[in-house]
Amino acid sequence: MAARFKLLRGTKDTLPNEADILRQLEIKAQDIFSIYGYRQIRTPIIESRDLFIRSLGQDTEVIGKQMFLIERDDDIIALRPEGTAGVVRSYIENSLDKTDGFAKLYYMGPMFRAERPQKGRLRQFHHIGVEAIGSNSPFLDAEVIVLADTILKGAGISGFNIKINSLGCVADKLAFAERLRVLLDSKRGLLCADCQDRYSRNVFRVLDCKNDSCREVILGLSIGYKDRLCSDCLLHFEQVLACLDSVNVRYDLSAFLVRGLDYYTRTVFEISHPDLGAQDAIGAGGRYDNLVGELGGAPSGAIGFAFGVERLLLVSKSESVKESEKNLVFLITLGREAEKKGFNLLYDLRQAGIKADTLFEEKSLKGAMRKAGDSGAKYVAILGENELKKNTVMLKDMESGEQREVKQEDLLKELQNFQYPISNIQ
Ligand code: HAM
Repeated sequence: MAARFKLLRGTKDTLPNEADILRQLEIKAQDIFSIYGYRQIRTPIIESRDLFIRSLGQDTEVIGKQMFLIERDDDIIALRPEGTAGVVRSYIENSLDKTDGFAKLYYMGPMFRAERPQKGRLRQFHHIGVEAIGSNSPFLDAEVIVLADTILKGAGISGFNIKINSLGCVADKLAFAERLRVLLDSKRGLLCADCQDRYSRNVFRVLDCKNDSCREVILGLSIGYKDRLCSDCLLHFEQVLACLDSVNVRYDLSAFLVRGLDYYTRTVFEISHPDLGAQDAIGAGGRYDNLVGELGGAPSGAIGFAFGVERLLLVSKSESVKESEKNLVFLITLGREAEKKGFNLLYDLRQAGIKADTLFEEKSLKGAMRKAGDSGAKYVAILGENELKKNTVMLKDMESGEQREVKQEDLLKELQNFQYPISNIQ
């Protein structure tokens, strides 16, 4: 039968096998966040549109083309396109600057951007991100990048590439934009129509353009970082790089990396993976030292990043079913009376924290054994008429094929000796 309703374009169902991998990833990330001193924050999926305009910048693609907006009771509400603005709003509104001062926060959840869907680009996607608010220290920049690197490695992802740049302070950024306009002035005719517009409205966006002729112009530009950063910003950036070097976190300097959101200052970084196509960024972030002040808080330095979870899944090599997702025991009951007894046996096993399951459909013993095998169970417990009479179950080790009769009251004790580990992403 054909499904009557279809998934919306740019959205995705996460089915159980993939959800298992995702959960393991989230557990791993949360373990590492805790080691690094980050605590979770959950902010709403809807926020006022103006918060994002003020934070991300009027001339960014996200604000210009990609916001999902809802008009309601004279308010214009946005489905959040990213997490930073909401976290900073919450930090200020809940006076975390006064109670906590320096706050290290992490979040996980859906984001929404009305982009043209393609591989790795969705309209509803998920971020795992962090925001460290209340410090200007370059050691924090390095720690945040090391944290991102550690999470990726912890999730078994390799072959990624960290690109890093510094935009400098606001004055450096303005001078950089002016310098770009000068460098591009004589080549404006070679730029695509969008970039002609970007040239005057937001020249940094030209550097992100994927159009071939624009790429050629951009790659011909000579831009470094040493001659466009003020002495404070240069010192800051060099300290960040020295820290990364000292712990052997590999990165590439990329003078063209400017990021698509306006709030960034100083350090910016993007992590890409060669296994992905055009949308190769698996995560990105940077400093946004003026945003807290812009949104009404006491000026404080801040930095963060976010991973695109669906892209992490595309490059993650995890097997679909982890050991910890498998059943320890699969109960096969034969006949109505056995089914009733089995209900209680399963209840007791599960109360004791043992992963156990059974069938809810009539099957031959052979069919039931096949299902038990599919479930990955280490043991199968068979409860037929004979066993019922003797208050036993037949316990079969699925690996060795050995089977023995076990008293029903001893089943729990037998199985408690064997448990799969809870989390096993290395
Ligand atoms: P962003 O670069 O816009 O940064 O998004 C971060 C990551 O989200 C990207 O690197 C990508 O992996 C993923 N992503 C973005 N758009 C999509 C999409 N349409 N479909 C699938 N995945 C996507 C931010 O959002 C900043 N808030 C990051 C940050 C936190 N900066 C400082 N703190």
